Amino acid sequence: MTVPIGVFASGGGTNLQALFDRLDPDVARIALVLTDRPQAHALERARAAGVRAAVVPIANRPGDVVAGEMIDALRGAGVRLVVLAGFVRKVPDDVVRRWSGRILNIHPALLPSYGGKGMYGHHVHQAVIEAGALVTGVTVHLVDEEYDRGRILAQWPVPVLAGDTPEVLAARVLKVEHLLYPAVVGAAARALDAGREIRDVAWHPPVAFAGAGEVDPATIEALVGEGITG
Ligand code: GRF
Repeated sequence: MTVPIGVFASGGGTNLQALFDRLDPDVARIALVLTDRPQAHALERARAAGVRAAVVPIANRPGDVVAGEMIDALRGAGVRLVVLAGFVRKVPDDVVRRWSGRILNIHPALLPSYGGKGMYGHHVHQAVIEAGALVTGVTVHLVDEEYDRGRILAQWPVPVLAGDTPEVLAARVLKVEHLLYPAVVGAAARALDAGREIRDVAWHPPVAFAGAGEVDPATIEALVGEGITG
């Protein structure tokens, strides 16, 4: 059965668009787009796709009211899996408890590094560049009550190149996000539908297989070769 998902987005929603474009409709369908910002471009994308949208403002409003509106919107759309895609607010604890183990987030770095409160958008990429890291990446993880601390389901490395600005690095990372997120959301929906735990989903990038001897030497050589620049 197709799993109805609810996508939370605060901004441009390019990951939301990637989900619209790439999710297998036999596996998962976007039943709701929820935002905290009435001006979020994500709302336009929902309208264009003919999908139900909800605006739940968060700033300066009582937490229980916000949580109640979110829960009503999610229940109204029959949402079984919640997907955060550039949602910059903390999901209320009550929502996290009710959809426990069924809320995913995407983070534009390799957690547990470069995560936590205040680490979003260009702040993440700025910190990666300032640290002199040569590798960053994308992480998809389960959401619990703490920022960026839930179980990691998938990671993909992305090189940091000489001269990168946060904007240039963000664009390189975002390309990977758009490929990885639909794949992991699909895997999570399949697990849910089969009665398995989403926390058991694990998506390894091909380079991670190098040490495990599961990729032939020529492939390793090619992968390593591609990553060396300068
Ligand atoms: C992405 O980089 C995502 O990893 C982070 O917020 C950004 C959202 O971008 N959580 P978009 O709104 O999907 O374009």
